[in-house]
Amino acid sequence: MKRIAVLGSTGSIGQQTLEVIASQPQRLKLIGLSAHSRIDLLEQQAARYHPEVVAVVDGEHAARLASRVEALPVLEGVEGLVRVATDPRVDVVVVGTSGRDALVPLMKAIESGKQIALASKELLVMAGALITRLARAHQTTLVPIDSEHAALFQALRGIPKPEIASISITGSGGPLWSFEASQLRDVSVSTVLNHPKWQMGPKITVDSATLMNKGLEVIEARWLFDMPLDRIHVLIHPQAQVHGLVELIDGTVLAQMSPCDMRLPIQYALSFPERWPTRVPSVSLVQQSPLTFFEPDLARFPCLRVALDAARRGDSACAVLSAANDVAVRAYLKEELPFGDIARITEETLSQHQAASMQTVEEILAVDAWARATAQTLVSAECGMRHAECEMGTPHPAPRTPYRSL
Ligand SMILES: NC(=O)c1ccc[n+]([C@@H]2O[C@H](COP(=O)([O-])OP(=O)(O)OC[C@H]3O[C@@H](n4cnc5c(N)ncnc54)[C@H](OP(=O)(O)O)[C@@H]3O)[C@@H](O)[C@H]2O)c1
Repeated sequence: MKRIAVLGSTGSIGQQTLEVIASQPQRLKLIGLSAHSRIDLLEQQAARYHPEVVAVVDGEHAARLASRVEALPVLEGVEGLVRVATDPRVDVVVVGTSGRDALVPLMKAIESGKQIALASKELLVMAGALITRLARAHQTTLVPIDSEHAALFQALRGIPKPEIASISITGSGGPLWSFEASQLRDVSVSTVLNHPKWQMGPKITVDSATLMNKGLEVIEARWLFDMPLDRIHVLIHPQAQVHGLVELIDGTVLAQMSPCDMRLPIQYALSFPERWPTRVPSVSLVQQSPLTFFEPDLARFPCLRVALDAARRGDSACAVLSAANDVAVRAYLKEELPFGDIARITEETLSQHQAASMQTVEEILAVDAWARATAQTLVSAECGMRHAECEMGTPHPAPRTPYRSL
């Protein structure tokens, strides 16, 4: 029996993880849950799945939940996340939070010898060197949940490193793949959130539409598989049946295929090193035929270019990339920024940064804080400029959607 803690249980990954745990009652037992502030959902999850302990990052929400569930210990803050992630009853920690607050809990979980099932790619993008060094030191395998990395992780099993020529990450292209460049400056939030293949949280869905997600995934793959950037490729594959490919030195290509259902990589990350049956329907090659593959278009989707540039510049540039993009995406979701400005805000923040290597969590968090403040200043300037133009009656070419902040 494996005993599980789920960080981010109220999110898309977290909810699907709970489904997987419930589907394997003989093999998996839930110990701990955590959320940021959605305590109504957390309370429902506690009633349905019976964890031994929960943590809520936001203090006010933690106190409110504690007053409702007297028999259940409710921990608070990032320290609460750390206690859930290092609880001696836990064997496997699923990291499915958005944002940076799970960095320290993840590192403490590695230090206390937990198996890690990792969905939160932003943590590897901001602190990949530190996390993978720690994992090596504690002989912990970071088992990826991200579908492309789960694919590569499986395809690479048993292959000696010198036999690997390159790896490729696929992406469906997202909801805007067929849009002309002129249409991409101003796209409504509802269009962007309507992903053709995957149901995910809002931040990663926007990243899929800008193709920033593929850039973050290249950086994630570089750390997970210890692979130089020039041997990691991105392919657009609209049918989203092949999730990752490994090319070997003799020209052989191994591809991993599975349906678009995150419960599959989640279960594999929990069952590893074993593999268990699921009720997920198998791939129908005939129905999905033909399978097509394209090079990504970096001109129409500049976020991918910006991400690859940051990856080449080094560790701190990756932390800046992730933080600035996060600020820009959240501003876009609040309709404060047009879609096309996500790349611009991220690139301008990066242009103000001198890349350096980072050795400690404190250095990483300082870079993250600087990038967030800088990106937020750029977003506010953009909002202010638009506000002034609206007041002067100057028509602005950007969003059709009204700005809530005005
Ligand atoms: N969704 C997918 O299919 C998918 C696929 C591959 C990789 N991933 C990666 O998995 C991660 C989670 O994605 P998601 O789509 O599940 O996101 P999501 O639906 O937005 O859920 C995020 C979870 O993190 C919690 N959270 C938010 N801010 C937090 C903070 N400051 N500290 C601690 N917890 C916090 C949320 O709690 P509240 O609900 O209380 O806000 C929620 O439980 C992301 O890194 C994403 O890139 C997701």
